[in-house]
Amino acid sequence: MENLISLVNKIQRACTALGDHGEESAMPTLWDSLPAIAVVGGQSSGKSSVLESIVGKDFLPRGSGIVTRRPLVLQLHKIDEGREYAEFMHLPRKRFTDFAAVRQEISDETDRETGRSKAISSVPIHLSIFSPNVVNLTLVDLPGLTKVAVEGQPDSIVHDIENMVRAYIEKPNSIILAISPANQDLATSDAIKISREVDPKGERTFGVLTKIDLMDQGTNAVDILEGRSYKLQFPWIGVVNRSQADINKSVDMIAARRREREYFANSPEYKHLTSKMGSEHLGRVLSKHLEIVIKSRIPGLQSLISKTIGELEAELSRLGKPIAADTGGKLYVIMEISRTFDQIFKEHLDGVRSGGDK
Ligand code: GDP
Ligand code: NA
Ligand code: MG
Repeated sequence: MENLISLVNKIQRACTALGDHGEESAMPTLWDSLPAIAVVGGQSSGKSSVLESIVGKDFLPRGSGIVTRRPLVLQLHKIDEGREYAEFMHLPRKRFTDFAAVRQEISDETDRETGRSKAISSVPIHLSIFSPNVVNLTLVDLPGLTKVAVEGQPDSIVHDIENMVRAYIEKPNSIILAISPANQDLATSDAIKISREVDPKGERTFGVLTKIDLMDQGTNAVDILEGRSYKLQFPWIGVVNRSQADINKSVDMIAARRREREYFANSPEYKHLTSKMGSEHLGRVLSKHLEIVIKSRIPGLQSLISKTIGELEAELSRLGKPIAADTGGKLYVIMEISRTFDQIFKEHLDGVRSGGDK
C-alpha cells in the first residue's frame, strides 16, 4: 500500500501542475480539502531553521528582510537508501543533488513570479526532497509575519502577508505549526496571535518554541513546554536550532541535531522532557499526525473526488465538440487523475476495513 501522505502529495501536485491552485472551477474545493501543515511565525522567529532541521539540510534562502515571498510547498519523501536529491515541479526532469543550487533556484523562481520587486505572491513553489533522513511530510512555508514594511516594499505588504497566512491556516483541514521564539514574551508572538484567531481552542495547532538556548539566565521555558502558560491540545515542542554563528561556521545539520539532543539531555530544567523535545521528535510527531488526519478524511476526500469528477464531466459535455484543445486536454487530465485516486482511496479504505492496513 502506498504511503497516504505521498498519495495526497500527488493530488496536490496534480492540482498545481494544471495551473489550478485556488481560482478555478471544480478543483479549488479539492485542493483546499487536502490536509497540509502550514508553518507560521514572525520574521526571524526561526521558521527556516525549524524547516531545515526537520529536513536535515541547508536549502532555504537566507537574508534580512522578507526572504520568503511565495508559499513553498515542501514535500518530504523518505527513501530507503541512496543519495538525497530534490526536484521542483516547475523543472520536472531536473534532479538537484547540490542543495546550494536548490536554495538558488527557490530564490530565482520567487523573482520570476514577483519580478524582483520584493513583492509577495500567493502562487506556490513546489519542492520535493527525497532522502533517507526525512519522514514523509508536507509542509507549507509561508512569508514571515511582520509589523513594518522595509525599504522598497509597499506598506500594504504587512497586511498582504497576514491575509495570505490567514487564507492558508483558516482552512479547517490545515494543521498549524506555530513558531514562537522563547526569548520573547509569548503574549507578543505573531504565530500565537494569528493561530488563536482561526483555531481558538488549539485543536489543530502545534506550538514550537525556538531559541530556548537564548533565554535570559535564570529563566526557563518549562511552564510553556508543560502546557501551563498557554494550553494547546497537543504538547508544545521546544527546539534549539543553529545560531547565526553556527551558520556562519557551516555547522552541518546532522551535527546540529546531535547538539540539540545533548542540550536537552544535559540541562537540569529540561532533562525530564528530553524525549519530547527537538527537531527530530517534531518531524516524527507531525508525520504521524498528518497521516492520522488524512486517514480520518478519506471518506470525505473520496466523495469530494467523485463530485469533482462529476463536475468536470459536466463541464466537458457543456463545452461540447470540438473542445478547445487546451481546456479539454486539461480537464481530461484532471479527470484521469481524479479517477486514479478515487480508485486508490477505495483500495486503501478496503485495506483499513479488512484490517490489512499496517
Ligand atoms: P525565520 O525568519 O523565521 O525563517 O528565522 P531564521 O530561521 O532565519 O532564524 C533567524 C535567526 O535566528 C538566524 O540567525 C538563526 O540562526 C537564529 N536562530 C533560529 N533559531 C535559533 C535557536 O533555536 N537558537 C539560536 N541560538 N539561534 C536561532
Ligand atoms: Na484549485
Ligand atoms: Mg525564513
